[in-house]
Amino acid sequence: MKKILTIVGARPQFIKAAAVSRVLRRQHQEYLLHTGQHYDENMSKLFFDEMNIPIPDLNLEIGSGPHGEQTGKMLVGIERVLQGEKPDMVMVYGDTNSTLAGALAAAKLHIQVAHVEAGLRSFNRAMPEEINRIVADQIAELLFCPTETAVGNLRREGISRGVHNSGDVMYDAALYFAGVAAQKSAIMQQLALKDKEYILVTCHRAQNTDDVANLTAIVEALVACDEPVVFPVHPRTRGFINSSGLTDKLAGAKRVRLIDPVGYLDMIQLEKHAAKIVTDSGGVQKEAYFYTVPCITLRDETEWIETVDDGWNVLVGADKERIVDAIVNFAPAGSQNNHYGDGHAGEKIVDILTRVWA
Ligand code: UD1
Ligand code: UDP
Repeated sequence: MKKILTIVGARPQFIKAAAVSRVLRRQHQEYLLHTGQHYDENMSKLFFDEMNIPIPDLNLEIGSGPHGEQTGKMLVGIERVLQGEKPDMVMVYGDTNSTLAGALAAAKLHIQVAHVEAGLRSFNRAMPEEINRIVADQIAELLFCPTETAVGNLRREGISRGVHNSGDVMYDAALYFAGVAAQKSAIMQQLALKDKEYILVTCHRAQNTDDVANLTAIVEALVACDEPVVFPVHPRTRGFINSSGLTDKLAGAKRVRLIDPVGYLDMIQLEKHAAKIVTDSGGVQKEAYFYTVPCITLRDETEWIETVDDGWNVLVGADKERIVDAIVNFAPAGSQNNHYGDGHAGEKIVDILTRVWA
């Protein structure tokens, strides 16, 4: 039995870690460290409760801040914990500042790093996440890729040792929780939504929220939409909507409903029953694909290129006309292929870890 210190901090990481933690704890000791990057009840605790994720052993409560400050505070806090806990390995997920800080703190202390969701690239270094991924992948000794595309990206950067195509842990979560969501979530009734008669929207990428022109174009496209729109608003986006005077525009659009961020089970139901999904989220693009819902992506590039290649996802940037056109006309042309594994990525990751130590 080995001691693995898992580092999470942001919403999608709780979902990813849940899929691995469930299996990991059968064979190894896990110490769960929450950086506190996300802290609102509906951005953090709700996920731990709904997905039965063990309560973190420690929450560093770092909170929000500029990149350097936030990452720096995390480094200080994580280093201290690693020195005390002396784990055999640190496990980090995805591409947030919590991922970067975790990988860096561990590497400097000569602790092995495993990166789950390794090898993703947008090839756009203006994205903070792209920098976080590149650094984490350089540092990690074990790299668990969700797709063959990710394995190829690493190969082109000269990284092939310790690289495994484990499949996507978010696909594990999607399969595992879809049934639970159907039983437990009442969001469709609560919002009086009809199957395939609304558009689901999420938007939180810095390039869309922090840029007034982009956010305005996106909001104007939603306001112009003839179908009902349901938009669980990320706190970052809520802040920019309020500060950029877009609240009036939205208040006048009766068909557009802004709601608070929802839990994972409600989100699954909202996704499965949507006519189309409009998003800039990485996870939501894939979930649209998993639940065979056409996806319109508010970006010019995507890491999840298979969804586009298969014809289920279209990239429209933050361009009002293209968003409106896609909402009306986009229809998936192709069939889906099996890019994301078999729903047992968590088991594969833990098997590989255990074999490495055997
Ligand atoms: C972060 C990740 C992004 C990921 C997203 C998932 C980085 C660089 N970005 O972006 O890759 O897709 O999480 O959701 O790590 N806020 C709250 N309450 C919270 C959390 C955030 O009000 O619980 C607000 C704060 O005003 C904060 C802003 O949201 O400044 C942004 O939060 P932050 O964690 O810095 O980045 P995200 O946009 O959430
Ligand atoms: N999600 C959720 N509630 C919401 C919005 C998103 O549960 O209100 C889930 C979504 O289903 C997906 C994950 O959060 O599993 C994606 O996280 P996010 O969009 O915050 O980050 P990204 O995937 O872009 O890094």
